[in-house]
This record gives sequence, C-alpha cells and structure tokens, in this order.
Amino acid sequence: MEKLIIHGGNPLRGTVRISSAKNAVLPIIVATLLPETPATIVDAPDLDDVATICSVLESLGVKVDRHEGRLTFDASDIKRAEASYELMSRMRASFLIMGPLLAKMGHARIALPGGCMIGSRPIDLHLKAFEAMGAEIHMGNGFVEGRAPNGLTGTTIYLDFPSVGATENILMAAVTAKGQTIIENAAEEPEIVDLVTFLNSMGANIKGAGTNVIRVEGVKSLLGVEHTVIPDRIEAGTFMIAAAMVGGDVLISNVLSEHLKPLLAKLHEAGVKVVKEFDSVRVISDGHITSTDIKTLPYPGFPTDLQAQFMALMTIGNKESKITETVFENRFMHVGELQRMGASIRVEGRTAIVTGVPFLKGAFVRATDLRAGAALTLAGLSAHGQTEIGELHHIDRGYDHLVEKLQGLGADIVRVNED
Ligand code: UD1
Repeated sequence: MEKLIIHGGNPLRGTVRISSAKNAVLPIIVATLLPETPATIVDAPDLDDVATICSVLESLGVKVDRHEGRLTFDASDIKRAEASYELMSRMRASFLIMGPLLAKMGHARIALPGGCMIGSRPIDLHLKAFEAMGAEIHMGNGFVEGRAPNGLTGTTIYLDFPSVGATENILMAAVTAKGQTIIENAAEEPEIVDLVTFLNSMGANIKGAGTNVIRVEGVKSLLGVEHTVIPDRIEAGTFMIAAAMVGGDVLISNVLSEHLKPLLAKLHEAGVKVVKEFDSVRVISDGHITSTDIKTLPYPGFPTDLQAQFMALMTIGNKESKITETVFENRFMHVGELQRMGASIRVEGRTAIVTGVPFLKGAFVRATDLRAGAALTLAGLSAHGQTEIGELHHIDRGYDHLVEKLQGLGADIVRVNED
C-alpha cells in the first residue's frame, strides 16, 4: 500500500510553480473530439485524471500522441460512440463526452459516471438539455444512451443550478448545432471561459462566457488549434493555504490572482499576509490564524474545491469558524479524518463548526476524496509528530507532483510503498 509519511513543523520557504488547471484541461481534451483536424494541448499537467480522459478518447478511436506535457488528439476517424463502465467509473468528468459525441456522431452510449463520492452528483441537467436540443435519451442497465440522427438544434436552456459540467457539455453539443443555443444561469467558472477560448479559436461562435448567459451560434465545422490551459486555481489555493497553515514565506508562481478573490479575502481575514505580484502571489505567515467563516458557492463565490483545505486551516484558528457547504450535499468526509488528528469539529447539516485547537497531532488517516487528501496533507505538514496518509490514488487524480513540490519548499514528506 502506498502512503505519504509527513513529519510536521518545517516552515515552507521558496517558490513553487502551479501546473495547468485539471478542471480546464479535462473538458478541453474532450472538446478535441469536435474538430476535423488534430488539436494540441501544451503544458498539460501530469495527472491520473488526464491519463483517464486520454484513455476514454482512445477507446473511441481518437489517436493520442503524447510528448511529455504536449498532447495531440486526432479525432478524424472516431470508430465508436460508446464508453465502458470500466473507464467511466474512474472519473465523473468522462461524462462530458456525451455532448460532443451527440454533435459529431448523432449517437452516444455511456456508462453512468463515477468520480469522487461527494453527494449524489446527478446528470439530470445535462440530459434535460440534450433532450431540449432534440436528442432522444434512454437510461437502462447502467447506461445512458442518446440519439440525434438528424443532428441537434439550438434552443434556450435554463439551468436550475449553474452546473459546471452541464454548461460544458451543452457548449460542446451546441457549437455545431443548427441555429442559436442560449444557456441561462450558466456556470461562470474560469474553466468555462478557457473551454470557450479553445472552442472559439477552433472556429466556434460563442459569446458571454464568464457571465451567466452564454450564446452559441452553431457553425458548420471546427479546425484543430494549439492551446495552453489556464493555471490551476485550486492547486494554487492549496499551496496558499499550506503556507498560511504551516507558516513561512512562499512565492506561488503561474497564478491568476483574479481567479482566487474569495480565498485572498478570507486569508486576509485570517490574518495571513498575501502579496499579489504580476503572475504570482507571495504568502507570508507565522502560523497564527484568526478564525473566519466561509460558505461555498458557484464562481465567483468561495470554491467548494478549497473547502476541505480551508477547514484544515481553521482547525488551528484562534476561536470558532463556521464552514458551510452549499454546492455538494456530502462533502464533509474529511471531518472524521481531521478529528483523528485532534481537530474539534461538529457538523450540523451543511455547516461544520470548527473550534480551533493550539496544534494538530500526527495520526494515520486516509484520503477520502481528492481535496480531502490535500486537506490532510496540509494538516500533516502543520501537525506535531508523524502523519501517515493512505488511499493516495485520490490525490494522484488531481495534484501534479504534489510531494516533490512540497519537498522543494522544505517540507518533510515522502511517499513510500509498503506491501
Ligand atoms: C466540477 C468540478 C469539481 C467542482 C464542481 C463545482 C470538474 C472536472 N469538476 O464538477 O471539481 O467541485 O464543478 O465547482 O470540472 N448537479 C445536478 N444535476 C446535474 C449536474 C449537477 O443536480 O445534472 C448538481 C451536483 O449534484 C452538485 C452541483 O450541481 O450538487 C454542482 O455540480 P457541477 O457544477 O455539475 O460539478 P461538476 O461539473 O461535476
């Protein structure tokens, strides 16, 4: 069994470079299904989720050419419009292939998705939109099947919730649909904007990305381009919280600080010094944390993907902090693990009330999901004594060389393989 062994207490000092965004690169890789000529992504992050989505595309007949971080996708000869349970169960974002397959092949048969077990995470908004665009949808035997033999037609779609995945799936279905598609109450995340930048540079006609109304005018076809993905704001936020919690002085480079406004504001409230520079932020902390409340919300609110890490920070706050999760219904699985390290947390419905303790104590814990794994790593870096973290496959899904990057900042952290 692989695990991380951390000896807490070393301050973090130095520079760390943030990789390209996981949540942007995944839909962008899926969007390479659409053009008639090959498309290339440069500087792709080295993540298990990226490997998984590449395998999904290869299983459809896409030719994938990898040269370190440079990935080229040739989807000119797709053979299948069907994705197996084995691949889909590894990662929920694989469901994003439904929109482009319906657009390009007029058919898709996809096993129902897996991914982090945070809440029920349904796909009803995706399916309702495809139906509104003229697809026939059938569910059965663990598969969802869509047919649009005469192509998709643009329409106005109001999302009951500004779902990131549904917005992306609809965008990819709509780029070559007949007429205009309008997505109302669309997600506004920077990853949506990056996907739209990629689609538009391939010839799509999309306006309004980054606002809650996106208009897509269908075009005949797209041609592949080369694209550099935006920096990962969640990885950047994780390192910012690490520096705040453990203490030290860290320059985090390749960051777009405008994507991190809620975290910057909350770290300021928590008494942490953050200096914004051109494309980096510097975090200076003595490890003394003022307790502050957060509530997760769709962008531009506080990101749910930083909730677990921020909760870890609040475990050593000076008084009480309320952490309210509104995006997912079951995203407190890290609470039990943080409690094993001496944290004082009680959960009341969607709110976790965290009473700060002077310090956490090392323990054996397990990463229950991707961001929970990051939160426990930060907790271990700040705790007294030794922390061991198991179930690393969750962390490997979404953090590019986390251990090496932390070692570069002076952390005492190693990855070991014990049978
Ligand atoms: C994406 C991110 C994930 C992040 C989440 C919210 C990727 C690969 N993943 O996930 O890291 O935590 O956005 O910022 O980009 N919902 C429905 N019906 C649907 C779709 C969603 O009810 O058809 C609900 C979900 O159950 C959840 C909420 O909407 O409660 C948000 O989900 P969504 O924005 O779709 O998240 P993902 O795209 O899965």
